[in-house]
Amino acid sequence: MILIRWDESFFVNIDEIDKQHEKLVGIVNTLAEAMSEGQGKTVLGKIIDELVDYTKIHFRTEERVLKLVDYPELEKHQAEHADFVQKVTDFQKGFDRGQLGLTVEVMNFLCDWVRNHIKKNDKQYALYIDEHGLRPS
Ligand SMILES: [Fe+2]
Repeated sequence: MILIRWDESFFVNIDEIDKQHEKLVGIVNTLAEAMSEGQGKTVLGKIIDELVDYTKIHFRTEERVLKLVDYPELEKHQAEHADFVQKVTDFQKGFDRGQLGLTVEVMNFLCDWVRNHIKKNDKQYALYIDEHGLRPS
């Protein structure tokens, strides 16, 4: 089964964001589990809705923090968020209409994106915040 193993290598050391990342990873894992259990469209659809909604909430939090610390790469980071939201929203629409299924490829994309985004892109702002002594309390 495709799963993201949550551990300290995901930490950006901002409490609110680490908690949200853990929850986001949890939703992706719940979706993977439901898929491997062969759950039906209703159950999968609900988890996909939760993923879309929570992703938006989380990105809003992150972007608020990045604005607060005047992160120079904010626009680029926002564009990456917007691109992911677009992709998952498009998938959600297709899934709801019965045009798209939750495949291994889709699941791999979700896992890879979340894992790589946190470990690469989010770690970059964490580094910036550390280097500039801007850790939000
Ligand atoms: Fe991010």
